[in-house]
Amino acid sequence: MTRTRIAVLASGGGSNLQAIVDHLATLGEHRHGDVVLVASNRPDAGALARAERAGIEGVVLRSPHAPDGLELGAVFAAHGVALVALAGYMRLIPPDVAIAYRGRMLNMHPALLPDFGGPGMYGSRVHRAVLRAGVAFSGPSVHFVDEEYDHGAVIAQWPVPVLPQDDEHSLAARVLRAEHLLYPRVVDAVAAGEVRLGDDGRVVSARFPQPRLPAMNPALDDEALARSLDARFGLRAPST
Ligand code: GRF
Repeated sequence: MTRTRIAVLASGGGSNLQAIVDHLATLGEHRHGDVVLVASNRPDAGALARAERAGIEGVVLRSPHAPDGLELGAVFAAHGVALVALAGYMRLIPPDVAIAYRGRMLNMHPALLPDFGGPGMYGSRVHRAVLRAGVAFSGPSVHFVDEEYDHGAVIAQWPVPVLPQDDEHSLAARVLRAEHLLYPRVVDAVAAGEVRLGDDGRVVSARFPQPRLPAMNPALDDEALARSLDARFGLRAPST
């Protein structure tokens, strides 16, 4: 099987990168892509250290933190990147790259878009805004990337309850847990060609016909949650 060459862009710790790498390893022969490159605008990003530990090439991109860094488009071309997953990448994708990778670039946002997204809505700011709004659910949104922050077509969302005693940390941790389960499955499905962006700008997908999943039950353990997602998406359980 020819596998899709995936790049992950990350500015921070890279726990979503790790979840993607681990999930593809668990899928083994059934995986549809390989992470061949990790790129960051921050030389000190934990994601680059994770890449090194996993034996994946890491590069530093040009940015105010790294004036000598490499250009995104050139890096993708040099590595034959076919699919890009943004995982906590804190910079806007240059318009020419976003256009070149239309339908081939994904982002994970830690709230239910189109609410609580856009410029300035990242990290704890998102969770504070959710708590201020008093909504009952938050949760990860995976979407195709376009030229605007958090704007492209939504592929999958997993509502996560907001609890009365939550602060930004407890809410962020619950949402991050859902991110780690959801994002790798979407990345593999897009790598498989089972999800794509139609010419009309809408998602074409047999796997995620309704982007919004039933709410996550945080009382379940990760294995049970993973099984519920795999059953929902008709995915092969890794151990079978
Ligand atoms: C995640 O919350 C993701 O939703 C957002 O940035 C954070 C990245 O975390 N885009 P990590 O670096 O993957 O741990």
